[in-house]
Amino acid sequence: MRFSPSVVGILSIASQALAVPNIQARDVSSFIATQKDIALKGVLDNIGANGSEVTGAGQGIIIASPSKSEPDYFFTWTRDSALTMKMIIDDFIAGNQGLETTINDYIKSQAILQTVTNPSGSLLPAGAGLGEPKFLADGSRFTGAWGRPQRDGPALRAIALITYCNWLIQNGQSQRARSIIWPIISNDLSYVGQYWNSTGFDLWEEVQGSSFFTVQNQHRSLVEGTKLARDLRVTCTGCDQAPQVLCFLQTFWNGKYIVSNINDNAGRTGIDGNSILGPISVFDINAYCDSLTFQPCNSKSLANFKVLIDTMRATYSINKGIPVGQGVAVGRYSEDTYYGGNPWYLITTAAAEFLYDAVAQWRARHVLYVDETSLAFFKELYPDVVVRQYNSGNYNSPFEKMMRAVLAYADSFVAVAQKYTLEDGALAEQYNRDTGVPLSARDLTWSYAAFVTMANARNGQYPPTWNTRQAAAPPATCASTSTPGVYAPATAAGAPNITTTCQVNVVFNVNATTYFGENIYIIGNTTDIGEWVINSAFPLTAGGYTAERPLWSVSAFLAAGENINYKYIRQQNCDQPYVYESQNRTLTMPACGSPAITVEDAWVGPVGTPGTC
Ligand SMILES: *[C@@H]1O[C@H](CO)[C@@H](O)[C@H](O)[C@H]1NC(C)=O
Ligand SMILES: *[C@@H]1O[C@H](CO)[C@@H](O)[C@H](O)[C@H]1NC(C)=O
Ligand SMILES: *[C@@H]1O[C@H](CO)[C@@H](O)[C@H](O)[C@H]1NC(C)=O
Ligand SMILES: *[C@@H]1O[C@H](CO)[C@@H](O)[C@H](O)[C@H]1NC(C)=O
Ligand SMILES: *[C@@H]1O[C@H](CO)[C@@H](O)[C@H](O)[C@H]1NC(C)=O
Ligand SMILES: *[C@@H]1O[C@H](CO)[C@@H](O)[C@H](O)[C@H]1NC(C)=O
Repeated sequence: MRFSPSVVGILSIASQALAVPNIQARDVSSFIATQKDIALKGVLDNIGANGSEVTGAGQGIIIASPSKSEPDYFFTWTRDSALTMKMIIDDFIAGNQGLETTINDYIKSQAILQTVTNPSGSLLPAGAGLGEPKFLADGSRFTGAWGRPQRDGPALRAIALITYCNWLIQNGQSQRARSIIWPIISNDLSYVGQYWNSTGFDLWEEVQGSSFFTVQNQHRSLVEGTKLARDLRVTCTGCDQAPQVLCFLQTFWNGKYIVSNINDNAGRTGIDGNSILGPISVFDINAYCDSLTFQPCNSKSLANFKVLIDTMRATYSINKGIPVGQGVAVGRYSEDTYYGGNPWYLITTAAAEFLYDAVAQWRARHVLYVDETSLAFFKELYPDVVVRQYNSGNYNSPFEKMMRAVLAYADSFVAVAQKYTLEDGALAEQYNRDTGVPLSARDLTWSYAAFVTMANARNGQYPPTWNTRQAAAPPATCASTSTPGVYAPATAAGAPNITTTCQVNVVFNVNATTYFGENIYIIGNTTDIGEWVINSAFPLTAGGYTAERPLWSVSAFLAAGENINYKYIRQQNCDQPYVYESQNRTLTMPACGSPAITVEDAWVGPVGTPGTC
C-alpha cells in the first residue's frame, strides 16, 4: 500500500493516450456499446485455464487482475469472483449461450476451493474456512497476513449459483441443480446462517466490524436460498436467520445516511461506496421501493446517495467545479489513503447503475413517492419537486421529467468514467484524484464486470427477480442469533471427499506491540500451524488492536486432545528476517466435543525494528 515507481511509468504513457480525443468524442450510448464488449472480453481474459492474461490460473478460477507486482493481484478473491460470475450468469440467461462452459468451470472450481484448509480454518467441522478472502491462482491456500475472515464471499457465491439453479429448474434440469450445485450453495448458506452476527473484514479488506454490503448480501442469499430449497425439496440450514439479518440491516441507517461499517473502531464517517454497491447487488426489478432491503429506489438509499456524492465531489481535485446534479468521479471513502486515495472505475459506474436501477423500479411501479428523506436528492435534479406522490404520465408529466433528469444524471457518471478511460478501453482499478490517469492494478476483473452490469442496466436488461416481496418481515426486536451450519464437501461437483478428525476451536490472543507494516504469526509443531516451516506459519489479525491493548488474534480449529508446541513470530517489513519469541510454548488441546477455548499470551522476546525501504 504505497506509491510505486511503476505507477509513475504508467502516468507518462497515459497522459499521451489521453490526448487522443476519439474515446471522449463519442456520446455515452456509443461509448457504452463498444466498451461493453471490451469489458466482457476483459473479464474472460482473466479466467483460467484459457484466459489469455492469466496463464497458470486453474480451470474456472477468476483472477482479480493480471498484475503480479505493485500491486500483486494475481490471486482469486471469493467476493470479486462471485460478483463477476453473477454478471456472467445473468448475461448467459439473457441469451449469451457461449458462457455456459465458463459457468460450469467455476462451479467445479468452487466445490474444490470450499475444501481447501486455509488460515481462516477448514470446511469441516464448522465451515470456518469458507470465510477466507483469497486463494492462489492455482486454487491452493494463501498463507500471508490478511484481513480475514471476510464474510461476504459465501453469500455472494450462493447468490450467483442460486440464479443459475433457478434457470436450470426453469429449463428442466432440476436434478442437476439439486445433486451437483445445491451442496455448494448449502455450505455457503450454512456459513451465512452461522456467522452473520460475527464481525469480519469489509469488502475493502480494511475494517473489522459489520459491513452494510456484507449484511445486505447475506440477507439476499438467505431469502433466495429459502425459495430454492423449497423448489428443490431440500433443507436449507441457516435460511431461518433471514428475518434477523434484515432486522440488523436496518441499524446501519443513522437518520441521514447509511453508515457502511459498524461494530468497528475504524474512526471513519462510514460514508462509503460500500453503500451503493450493496443496493445494486440486491437490486430486484420487482421490489417495492419501501422494501426494507434498501433498493436503489428507496428513499434512504437515495438520501445516502446524495451524501456520498457530495462527499466525493469535495474529496478529489478532478471533481473541482462540477456542480451538484452532475456526475463526479467516485471512490471508496474520503479517508482513503490506498495509492493515495483515488476514484475507482467500478464505483463510478456503480453510481450510474444505481440510478438506472432506480428509474427502472419507478417505471415498473408507475409511481414515485417523494418524501422528506429523498427530497434533497430530487431537488438537485428537478427544482420544482415537492413531497408527494407522482404518478406516471405522458412525456411532459412531472414523473417523466424526473425520470429523464435521473437518467441524464446517471449518464453523466458514465461520462466521467469515459473521460478517464484510455483509448484501448482498458480499465484499471483506480484513476488519479488529481490527473485522472489510471493507476493501481491494471485490467481489474471487477472494473470490467461492473461496466457490463451498468451497461445492461442502461439497456433495460435486468437480472432475474429474487422475490423481495416474499421476504419474511423482521422481528419487532432484533436479537443476536445463529444457526449451527451443516457442512460437507460437494463431491458430486468435483470436491475431494475430505474427512476430519475431531477438532476444537481455540482462539489465540497475544499482546504484541507492533509498528505499522509488521505482522504476527503463530508457528508450531503440528500441520495446522506449519510444522515449524516459516512459509506455512499461521497469520494473526490486528482487528482488535488498540492503544490500550496491542491485541493480535486468530481463531483456529486444532485436533482435540493433541499436545502442541508453538511460539509467535514477527514478520518485519522491507524483507528483513523474521523475529522469533525466545521461548517455546505448550498447549494441551481439550478432548473431542469440548467448547471453544481462549489462550491469552503476551509476547516474550526481542521486538522488531522498522526498516527503510
Ligand atoms: C478452454 O479450452 C479448451 C481447449 O480448447 C476447451 O475445450 C474449453 O471449452 C475452453 N474453456 C472455455 C471456458 O472456453
Ligand atoms: C448481532 O446482532 C445484534 C442484533 O441485531 C446487533 O445488535 C449486533 O450489533 C450484531 N453484532 C454483529 C457483530 O453482527
Ligand atoms: C466420503 O467419505 C465418507 C467417509 O469415509 C463415506 O462415508 C462417503 O461415502 C464418501 N463419499 C463419497 C461420495 O465417496
Ligand atoms: C508437539 O510437541 C508436543 C510437546 O513436546 C508433543 O507432545 C507432540 O507429540 C508434538 N507433536 C507432533 C505432531 O510432533
Ligand atoms: C523450540 O522448538 C524448536 C523446534 O523443535 C527447536 O528447534 C527450538 O530449539 C526450541 N526452542 C527452545 C527455546 O526451546
Ligand atoms: C494483555 O493486555 C491486557 C490489557 O493491557 C491485559 O489486561 C492482559 O492481562 C494482557 N494479557 C497478558 C497475557 O498479559
